[in-house]
Amino acid sequence: MAKTFYITTAIDYTNSAPHIGHAYEKVLADVIARYHRLKGEKVFFLTGVDQHGQKVQQSAAKAGVAPAEFVKGITEQFVDLWKKLDVQYDAWAATTDPLHKKCVQGILQRLFDEGQIYKDKQAGHYSVRQEQFLTDKERGPDGEFGPEWGDVEFREEENYYFRLSKHKEWLLTYIDNRKNAIIPDFRQTELRNAVGRLSGDLCISRPKSRLDWGIELPFDKDFVNYVWFDALTNYISFAGYDPKIDKYEDQPQGFRDRWPALQIIGKDILVPAHGIYWLIMLHAIGFPDDQMPQLLVHGWWNLSGAKMSKSAGNIVDPDALAEKYGADALRYYLMSAIVMGKDADFSEELLIVDFNSDLANALGNLMNRTLNMIHRFQNGTIKWIDVTTLPESQVRSHLQTWSEDELQAGARLYTNEFADFRPGNALSAPLARTLSCNALVEISAPWNLVKDKQQGKLLDAVLYHLAESLRIIAILISPVLPKAAHGIFDQLNWKMALSGKEERFSLKDAQWGGLPDGQVVGKPVPLFPRIETT
Ligand code: ME8
Ligand code: MG
Repeated sequence: MAKTFYITTAIDYTNSAPHIGHAYEKVLADVIARYHRLKGEKVFFLTGVDQHGQKVQQSAAKAGVAPAEFVKGITEQFVDLWKKLDVQYDAWAATTDPLHKKCVQGILQRLFDEGQIYKDKQAGHYSVRQEQFLTDKERGPDGEFGPEWGDVEFREEENYYFRLSKHKEWLLTYIDNRKNAIIPDFRQTELRNAVGRLSGDLCISRPKSRLDWGIELPFDKDFVNYVWFDALTNYISFAGYDPKIDKYEDQPQGFRDRWPALQIIGKDILVPAHGIYWLIMLHAIGFPDDQMPQLLVHGWWNLSGAKMSKSAGNIVDPDALAEKYGADALRYYLMSAIVMGKDADFSEELLIVDFNSDLANALGNLMNRTLNMIHRFQNGTIKWIDVTTLPESQVRSHLQTWSEDELQAGARLYTNEFADFRPGNALSAPLARTLSCNALVEISAPWNLVKDKQQGKLLDAVLYHLAESLRIIAILISPVLPKAAHGIFDQLNWKMALSGKEERFSLKDAQWGGLPDGQVVGKPVPLFPRIETT
């Protein structure tokens, strides 16, 4: 059985509405998933929502509803947004799902039985307002706990702990021996340093008296599981992992066909959550080193250099943007205006400028003028011509190099950039082709060629070149701009039986010469109407 390409995102907290950072991560994963399907691979794309925990319990209390009801409402907002943004996942990880609970409890029980989880008493300073124990890290420069913690009292509490530090040496060795465990590289270094400083075990429970919105510990019903342990497990619980089987090799075939995953996360949840807790959890339940997931860590979207936050009131709402400009425009911006791994500033002005220049002016205009010319000069029918039979000319030489060298160079760049998870850079291949086609129109001036009988074959060749390039451009943009790609195919009247279906696009078809002689094209319909701003 062929291996499935398994891709996951972080599961989003359901304590508040989706924001642009959530949208970026899910679109990024969707684009990478679509690219792998374009290559003909089987893909399993998992995303979802993180529904338990303190933050949710607090938000629900503030809203005056039960946590279950509260998360239902927020979860719907995420589901609706992914639909609106054409984010197409194969499975939905909601942590209140009974299947997930069973898996988390199964893993906890196994670790408990093996002595990897133990009960201990913690005594220390406790912030009643924040409902958490404080450490020396939380002390201000004056050695005191600041006013943000409210009343701080001394408390004793029993909890369950996972033996994290026992696996520290293993994790160090694993990171040192595995290139690209974390992408980009500087994040792997960051993690390596953090692991070096690791000490102590991980508290994985909360007494029900202070948190009851969570998964009950299977071995002690007075406690619920602490949120990270629960949330991280989603990546395997929704992929068919069986917690009762301790040997990795004996896991169900379906699970092993998928695992390990490429896991997309933001920079804030690498250390300690994914880079330390998650890798150690997997190791502790018997996953071999060569089955550790790869972590792809993206940067953050900020607003005027500042972190977006609910309290600062500067949250960018992806739903409103998609409503205003359409899914493709937002997807294009999110993929092209950030460097993978780095932070970026969100700018609605730039979204409009990039859309108008790259999509409306360059690609939309190419589509429109190409179809118009084919209708005006050739009654809507494309003619295939062997370019080598044409007399030597500047236009003929452009036709040749652009359909051979440029196409190959573009294909190489495209696949290399996608291999490094940089869809924004990959887009420069179809964009370059768009620009060279627009240049070809200017250089060849088909409106002059049509007046000269001698130039009839050259005109055919130019128009074929443009239409055929558009067919290839549609394939290459399809992971990022699925709607526009269908629009181009529809107007070329190409693969109409698969209209609207993703199977319509395949990277294998991005080779020169696909459109046949005699292809009748449709009428132009504006693909990317300019966004006017006055
Ligand atoms: O952390 N720009 O959930 P979350 C880019 N439930 N990405 C951003 C961002 C921004 N401004 N803000 C957040 C959680 N993100 C946990 C994850 S996984 C087992 C549990 C990213 O809703 C963030 O980095 O706070 C994370 O990858 C994702 O959005 C969900 O964040
Ligand atoms: Mg967060």
